[in-house]
Amino acid sequence: MLPQLLLALSLTLTGVASASFQLAHGYQEAKLRKLNAETGSYEQHQPVQTRQYEEFPEQWFEQPLDHFNNETGDTFLQRYWFSTRHYTPGAGGPVIVLDGGETSGEGRLPFLDTGIVEILTRATGGVGVILEHRYYGETQPVQNLTTDSLRFLNNEQSAADSAHFMANVKFDGIDEDLTAPGTPWIYYGGSYAGARAAHMRVLYPDLVYGAIASSGVTHAILEDWEYMNTIRKAAPANCSEGLQNSIQTIDSVLGEGGQAAEDLKALFGLQGLQHNDDFGSIIRNPIFEWQSKCWNSDCGSDAFNNFCEALVEAPLDGFGDAAYGDPRRSVNVTDSLKVDYVLQNYASYVNESYVAGRCPGNYTIEDCFGSYDASAYTATSLDQDWRLWQFQVCTQWGFFNVAPTDPDQPRIISSFITLETESKICDLAYPPGDYFTVPSQPNITAVNALGGYDITADRLAIIDGEVDPWRPDTPHSLDAKARAVHHYDEYGYADLTQEPPEIQQIHEEMIAFVTEWLNEWNMMKPAM
Ligand SMILES: *[C@@H]1O[C@H](CO)[C@@H](O)[C@H](O)[C@H]1NC(C)=O
Ligand SMILES: *[C@@H]1O[C@H](CO)[C@@H](O)[C@H](O)[C@H]1NC(C)=O
Ligand SMILES: *[C@@H]1O[C@H](CO)[C@@H](O)[C@H](O)[C@H]1NC(C)=O
Ligand SMILES: *[C@@H]1O[C@H](CO)[C@@H](O)[C@H](O)[C@H]1NC(C)=O
Ligand SMILES: *[C@@H]1O[C@H](CO)[C@@H](O)[C@H](O)[C@H]1NC(C)=O
Ligand SMILES: *[C@@H]1O[C@H](CO)[C@@H](O)[C@H](O)[C@H]1NC(C)=O
Ligand SMILES: *[C@@H]1O[C@H](CO)[C@@H](O)[C@H](O)[C@H]1NC(C)=O
Repeated sequence: MLPQLLLALSLTLTGVASASFQLAHGYQEAKLRKLNAETGSYEQHQPVQTRQYEEFPEQWFEQPLDHFNNETGDTFLQRYWFSTRHYTPGAGGPVIVLDGGETSGEGRLPFLDTGIVEILTRATGGVGVILEHRYYGETQPVQNLTTDSLRFLNNEQSAADSAHFMANVKFDGIDEDLTAPGTPWIYYGGSYAGARAAHMRVLYPDLVYGAIASSGVTHAILEDWEYMNTIRKAAPANCSEGLQNSIQTIDSVLGEGGQAAEDLKALFGLQGLQHNDDFGSIIRNPIFEWQSKCWNSDCGSDAFNNFCEALVEAPLDGFGDAAYGDPRRSVNVTDSLKVDYVLQNYASYVNESYVAGRCPGNYTIEDCFGSYDASAYTATSLDQDWRLWQFQVCTQWGFFNVAPTDPDQPRIISSFITLETESKICDLAYPPGDYFTVPSQPNITAVNALGGYDITADRLAIIDGEVDPWRPDTPHSLDAKARAVHHYDEYGYADLTQEPPEIQQIHEEMIAFVTEWLNEWNMMKPAM
């Protein structure tokens, strides 16, 4: 029997289409790998590629490992894919490149087939490209993921990869020179890659003719409490209130300690878990499912809605208007603990979805779910890919998913989750190397120096969803239009008219502004 420890917890910034980005879940992922390896039943849990994309065979482009100092003298091969489905030979482009961001580029192939790259190349007669990010997928420049080996995984080096690629790539089977700056390149990215798209336009304005940053998290921050606050405000009111009330009870029971606290942990199947922040972290997991919402079931999941329904469901009729905490709604758990039925529902859901069956019999709950044991993080082989984005978080991006520090701010996650508890993995998982030491806090200054909320450039389009939990980290932190979650525009149908109206509309707007940019290019061209 495979102990699928925390299988669903590999949460990505970019949603279900990609599986490597962990928010603060590095430790949960590390535990999954460690336990499954120890029990001999480790299973790759990357999403299985159900469709083959034979039309787009993988390609390789040579890059220096260190663009700036050639420190090791090494090079590596960067993987990419391209589509000439709509290419008009001799027309001089454009090239639409989609940045793979913090996941395997393979997961982005649908965007070359029916998503945003297909949509924009069809409209413009261009070549479409998916470019895998260094260290992700098969673009592996190193032999292991120690602190030293990871030192070339940073924003500056990976931006330089993209620039070098644009200026030098020669597409197999295409005779004309399509490199930048002689050809207009439009750089698209969603989420972290969206920030990269905006950064590329700012850093390499001569190479990147236009850029589209979808849910681009250009504003790096240490304590990203607004992530959960966005969900709190956007979720159905009964669900949000149920969570807020439950968290208040949980924090107060855990804060007092004693038998009631032990009984509460046991109610969630987490008896004996030592640290309150670890408890808070496990019970936060269903809320992250919000980000996996999408406008169709192929690109997203209903897990958040299912969770909400389970949370608020009354066990019996006849509670009338009784509010949370009303004695009529309370369930006797043990002699020491009575809880509202909503909290009982929450516990059952967490137990069933994240705890039960995930911890092999001869391990303790602390072995399986605790985050304080440094030995959980010592494996540095390439399959420990949770170490990648986590390293970027620890060095440059932050985005620690914490509770608000203001006690008056309503919350849906436990206040035991703090910057200190969320960032301790940076010390535990990345001990100092000979060449590199992870800073005591990520240096978010370097990211924000590129513009942050105020990032702006000609031909830089910024697209965000109103209820995207990452919106507070984007330039649209205070205003956004469509009631979308995370980079909804990246996904598309082959037939745009079959898309929901607001998705079809954004795609039409994107086609219109990209066409306009290319018209400007054509008008400028004779002068160049
Ligand atoms: C639990 O059992 C597995 C497989 O039988 C073994 O590899 C592992 O070391 C055991 N763990 C503990 C904590 O005893
Ligand atoms: C980097 O160093 C290697 C090995 O010393 C050398 O072969 C290569 O030409 C250097 N690259 C550049 C761009 O200088
Ligand atoms: C990691 O790889 C480097 C070479 O790339 C090697 O020198 C080092 O010993 C390796 N470390 C581990 C722990 O595998
Ligand atoms: C957790 O779920 C498992 C599997 O359904 C069940 O056997 C167990 O009793 C549950 N634990 C609690 C505390 O509800
Ligand atoms: C919770 O709210 C949702 C959305 O408003 C509603 O559809 C559902 O019936 C409510 N559930 C309960 C149990 O009140
Ligand atoms: C819960 O316990 C109280 C005493 O603390 C008792 O009066 C009540 O009947 C119990 N409720 C149920 C449903 O067993
Ligand atoms: C953070 O990055 C900025 C910009 O690159 C740099 O000027 C500053 O020295 C760095 N701060 C620390 C503490 O390393």
